[in-house]
Amino acid sequence: MLSWDDIDTQAKPEPKKAEPQPVPGALQSEQQAVTEPSANYQVESASSAPASTAAQANSTSTAAPSSAVEAARAAVNDLDPAPGLEELEMGAARIQVDEKRIINCRADLNQLVPFKYDWAWQKYLDGCANHWMPQEVNMNKDVSMWKDPNGLTEDERRIVEYSLGYFSTADSLVANNLVLAIYRHITNPECRQYILRQSFEEAIHTHAYQYCVESLGMDEGEVFNMYREVPSVAKKAAWSLAHTGSISDPNFKTGTAETDQELLRNLIAFYAVTEGIFFYCGFTQILSMGRRNKMTGVAEQFQYILRDESMHLNFGIDVINQIKLENPHLWTEKFQQEVTQMILEGMELEVAYARDTMPRGVLGMNAAMMEEYLHFIANRRLSQLGLKEQFPGAQNPFPWMSEIMDLRKEKNFFETRVIEYQTGGALQW
Ligand SMILES: [Fe+2]
Ligand SMILES: [Fe+2]
Repeated sequence: MLSWDDIDTQAKPEPKKAEPQPVPGALQSEQQAVTEPSANYQVESASSAPASTAAQANSTSTAAPSSAVEAARAAVNDLDPAPGLEELEMGAARIQVDEKRIINCRADLNQLVPFKYDWAWQKYLDGCANHWMPQEVNMNKDVSMWKDPNGLTEDERRIVEYSLGYFSTADSLVANNLVLAIYRHITNPECRQYILRQSFEEAIHTHAYQYCVESLGMDEGEVFNMYREVPSVAKKAAWSLAHTGSISDPNFKTGTAETDQELLRNLIAFYAVTEGIFFYCGFTQILSMGRRNKMTGVAEQFQYILRDESMHLNFGIDVINQIKLENPHLWTEKFQQEVTQMILEGMELEVAYARDTMPRGVLGMNAAMMEEYLHFIANRRLSQLGLKEQFPGAQNPFPWMSEIMDLRKEKNFFETRVIEYQTGGALQW
């Protein structure tokens, strides 16, 4: 059971602060701003007016506006709102819910309501309700176990290293794809609201992996470069990156069958494969470690991340299926075959990763069991997208994974403390 005391006593490295450098000219004018009104204050204070009000009144009523202030006033007076409104193709008309579309929508994207896709807004609310931060997880036992030569077997250490190696950069790939590639092409404000929330969660996940690496005193350069240097890790990263290139091109535009399908490929590559398949071997391995009371802090971080990821996956599946519904001409037989192959490629890469990370049985599992699990997962992704399952009868050898994903915040198998952000903060004025 964790408590605040446990967390406060954790050794936290002093953050390196980048102090703002004084700019000579700016400093001088700031000093003038402070000293000049103080002369007025002497005069005004005699009339018993509050000092700050008096000084403010004095400075606004008598000081001649600078040329910069005059230029700003002139620019605001001359501001014509018409050109900005013309860019919104619906002009000043109010948004009708029927006009909303996931892609290629011409309605004003700055108006969140009226909602059309309640599921997207609900996921945004659920994501906010599940907020957590990596520093809240106590890593003390993990540090002792990692530094103890007999704490973990070599095979268990390999799993921790590979997991942090893959995930420490994978979440950056996902975040970059969200903000640099897909965001501008998803033309619906409630979906964008969730994508913004998801982007922040990806930043928290990258933070969590960095926090694990730092807490355990691992070689940062080695861990963060695994996605370029270790083949079974690098291939997964390369597969994801190959599907982000065309969409992130500033000249890319949706609106034709070809480009709309290209956007769908990207969504499937990231939501259904990267977040929906590539995360599953590593998560299962680390959570199995936690169930065996090993590296419980790392496992708890992964558990929170997995809960977020299962929502990212579900959001992505809903978006893809809604695009299919609104644009049935995109979902051709040929395209369905292509998507099926994408899911199977992802599964093959994950099976190769499982074999590389588990040359022998470890933590009550082995590569053959993981392969069966990945067949089960691939079937699930295919059926979620309305495609034919490719591994009839594949079973889930790790049913406890589903239970973990469904756990709500207030209850988990490590019985750690509950953090309620919704009620925790109060501003002091
Ligand atoms: Fe993530
Ligand atoms: Fe994610």
